[in-house]
Amino acid sequence: MVQLTLPNNSKIKSGKTWNKPESKGKWKEFRIYRWSPDDDANPSVDNYWLNLEDCGPMVLDALIKIKGDIDSTLTFRRSCREGICGSCSMNIDGTNTLACLQAIEDVKGPVKIYPLPHMEVVKDLVPDMTNFYAQHQSIEPWLQTKSPTPPKEWRQSHEDRQELDSLYECILCACCSTSCPSYWWNSDRYLGPAVLLQAYRWVNDSRDEATGERLDNLEDPFRLYRCHTIMNCTKACPKGLNPAKAIAELKKLMVERRV
Ligand code: SF4
Ligand code: SF4
Ligand code: FES
Repeated sequence: MVQLTLPNNSKIKSGKTWNKPESKGKWKEFRIYRWSPDDDANPSVDNYWLNLEDCGPMVLDALIKIKGDIDSTLTFRRSCREGICGSCSMNIDGTNTLACLQAIEDVKGPVKIYPLPHMEVVKDLVPDMTNFYAQHQSIEPWLQTKSPTPPKEWRQSHEDRQELDSLYECILCACCSTSCPSYWWNSDRYLGPAVLLQAYRWVNDSRDEATGERLDNLEDPFRLYRCHTIMNCTKACPKGLNPAKAIAELKKLMVERRV
């Protein structure tokens, strides 16, 4: 049998332990991936201890507490703290999710925190989203019209507006795309569930007049058809959206326009 081993510089080492409990309290351990491009060192996992009586309830609260009180070098993205901006997506206890929506008490044992999988790491918990954003740009995520511009606004019936429900709420956190095995192996050519959900959002908008061009842009063995309906994406979405269904709808439209 072929034995595969990781190259030496990919092996994760044990790191430092910070703030080990010495007083009474409700202590919890956080095992956090660390890597910096500035050191010539392998990635490591540092262990941080926090007294939960002195910390907010969410994993993001713990990260902010660690950065503020224990180790200012810990690097992660965050902004809104309420599941709206999509910045704090990371892998917590084996699942891609938003740190600001993940309650610490729902994680049994030590809280293991890694960056989103299968992305290049910029530093610690910050993945490089360059390719993801370029893919989003490639589907031209804005309203495109050919009719003369109306005097006030592009109007939409209440019913047509409801067609965008469960699509417009996407915050582009990439939890779904980085849970998708097809995206892991083909992220250079497969658009992945987040971007395809966005593509469907514009195809499904009654005001948009570029549906044909949008579908042409997806008609490719890789960009759309690398989805094999494994459904990891839908399971991962912290906003409860269903990218797999959006992809299935796009595939259905492709078939319908051929007949
Ligand atoms: S359903 Fe498609 S997009 Fe979603 S995880 Fe599976 S292969 Fe990826
Ligand atoms: S579909 Fe859900 S998981 Fe995917 S990017 Fe949008 S909000 Fe995040
Ligand atoms: S900080 Fe904005 S989604 Fe978590």
